[in-house]
Amino acid sequence: MISDVLVDEINEQIKFEMYSAYMYLAMSAWCAERNLSGFAHWMTMQAQEEVDHAMRFFNFLLERGGRVELQAIDAPPVDYGSPVAVMEKSLEHEKFVSSRIHHLYKLAVEEGDYPAQVMLQWFVSEQVEEEASIDEIVERMKMFGSDGAALLMVDTQLAARTPGAEEQA
Ligand code: FEO
Repeated sequence: MISDVLVDEINEQIKFEMYSAYMYLAMSAWCAERNLSGFAHWMTMQAQEEVDHAMRFFNFLLERGGRVELQAIDAPPVDYGSPVAVMEKSLEHEKFVSSRIHHLYKLAVEEGDYPAQVMLQWFVSEQVEEEASIDEIVERMKMFGSDGAALLMVDTQLAARTPGAEEQA
């Protein structure tokens, strides 16, 4: 039986994942308003991936007999300043999510909950990937500078993002 403390923390995590989806949607809108359609596309795909993350936690709670208690989701910021600031904000947020996942994993170990540890291992790896891919975009943007041609090049690269395996499932 899953412990009450893990049930509560996983319910919290569903909220954080849904907030992530909300935040990436807000970023997508900000980019679309500035005709950065590649950035907007990338953010929309990221938002979909975040809903998938929330659903993994949601389904895990149900499978384990834990009570799902959905919580209110905060409103994300509307303004992001600049394209590089959008990506830096994404990276900062993913680092926060990684710290949440590590916290959950630590709890699962303390509680001796092996199924939770196995489920969370996927998220530990996923966060490494997410941070690395966003960090690469941020670094590329800093290296190329913020002139129109450089921005257009990154925008074209981001437009090529295809759904990950979990989104195609
Ligand atoms: Fe669900 Fe981007 O972490």
